Amino acid sequence: MTEPAKLQLDGKSFEFPVIVGSEDEHAIDISALRSKTGYITLDDGYGNTGSCESAITFIDGEKGILRYRGIPIEQLAEHSTFVETAWLLIWGELPTKAQLARFSDLLTSHEMLHEGLYRHFDGFPPSGHPMAILSAMINAVSCYHPDILLNDMHNFDDSAARLLSKVRTIAAAAFKTSIGQPIVYPKPKFDYCSNFMHMMFSIPFKECEPDPDVVRALNQIFILHADHEQNCSTSTVRMVASSGANLFASCSAGVCALWGPLHGGANAAVLDMLEHIHVNKIDLKDYVAKVKDKTSGIRLMGFGHRVYKNYDPRAKILKAAADKILDKLKVNDPLLAIARQLEEAALKDSYFKDRNLYPNVDFYSGIIMRAIGLPVNMFTVLFAIGRMPGWIAHWKEMHDQKSRIQRPRQVYTGYQPRDYVAVDKRG
Ligand code: SDX
Repeated sequence: MTEPAKLQLDGKSFEFPVIVGSEDEHAIDISALRSKTGYITLDDGYGNTGSCESAITFIDGEKGILRYRGIPIEQLAEHSTFVETAWLLIWGELPTKAQLARFSDLLTSHEMLHEGLYRHFDGFPPSGHPMAILSAMINAVSCYHPDILLNDMHNFDDSAARLLSKVRTIAAAAFKTSIGQPIVYPKPKFDYCSNFMHMMFSIPFKECEPDPDVVRALNQIFILHADHEQNCSTSTVRMVASSGANLFASCSAGVCALWGPLHGGANAAVLDMLEHIHVNKIDLKDYVAKVKDKTSGIRLMGFGHRVYKNYDPRAKILKAAADKILDKLKVNDPLLAIARQLEEAALKDSYFKDRNLYPNVDFYSGIIMRAIGLPVNMFTVLFAIGRMPGWIAHWKEMHDQKSRIQRPRQVYTGYQPRDYVAVDKRG
């Protein structure tokens, strides 16, 4: 039994239990803090606050370790597929051959959208951002499947497969609508990632024949993005789910949180940054100097992380994958060279070293997505497709844990009591 934490407050001594996780994470359980002491805690950005106990993903930020259900990300990226990793995250074990076959069939059975949903895309302007469309259409799907709203866990497997399968179809339909091409329907002959490429790049008179290396790279991108503990968007999904909101509503909220440039939107912001440097022939030393100058308001996008104070293991894998896929596709992207030079300059610079700022998952992912033909405004959409199994897994875990509604406290800093003043007396 671990020694309790002791707290001295207003001349009194209090004790709080210490929880120890399976990877030796120590947490002080302050569930009774306010009732015992009258105090609450304040933790800007929740950098020191655990919102839950979870068995899905483990990160050791100091050592640059990431594991899904105990399996190192490097092994999954090397040997697994996105569909297999999705099963692992959601149901906790690597699937047997029979389970994987059944899950793949279930995903295939859900890959189409109701015809009424396809008509929604006519209503979006071509300039509509695909993340806005993705969030809206995920909720729209639940209008055609009211059973989803019941949160009946007996239907969970079907709802999870429906969401995971359709998120890909919605994303591709949004892309096609934005470029004025007819929406392409999924084909059961394709596996998950090949079907996505088919729906993205086939045209009426020429079916896309997905390059196996591109499909492999897409599997890796989705695997690497599949979950990441209590990041901003996953915490959003858990917050929304805690009110009893259904799986689709919770994950639709996750899409919105992911969209921000400090989170999943960073992969697009990295490409914008590299493009800006390239087009304007900006000297990298000058750019890095601007990043270090706080008054510039410029950040090195794709660098830094709340948890990783070491190289993000996903960035390492993506850096190698970028080389491989660009070489295979014979793409000579000047932005990759700029990215490498920026990384080299930053990793030598004390400003970044002193703050433990390293490339994160977003620094190289966009280079690969651009090489396989995706426009920048689809990069965060791919992040959302990849993160979907993680969001689904956390939604399920909350239901299995019968978690309470999340309702943080605050420290009030506004007016003390004052009276209402009639409008003609307000001066
Ligand atoms: C993702 O949480 C997750 O797990 C997220 C994610 C996932 O898989 O879900 O990993 C995906 O969101 C990756 C991060 C993508 N975002 C970016 O690449 C945007 C650029 N990075 C940052 O804005 C920043 O590093 C964050 C948002 C990622 C982390 O922010 P923190 O933890 O709040 O750190 P901070 O802003 O308090 O910075 C600490 C210091 C500050 O300097 P000082 O005040 O100490 O002098 O580091 C500096 C910051 O100014 N700093 C940067 C920087 N990131 C932090 N300076 C320049 N460039 C940067 N990118």
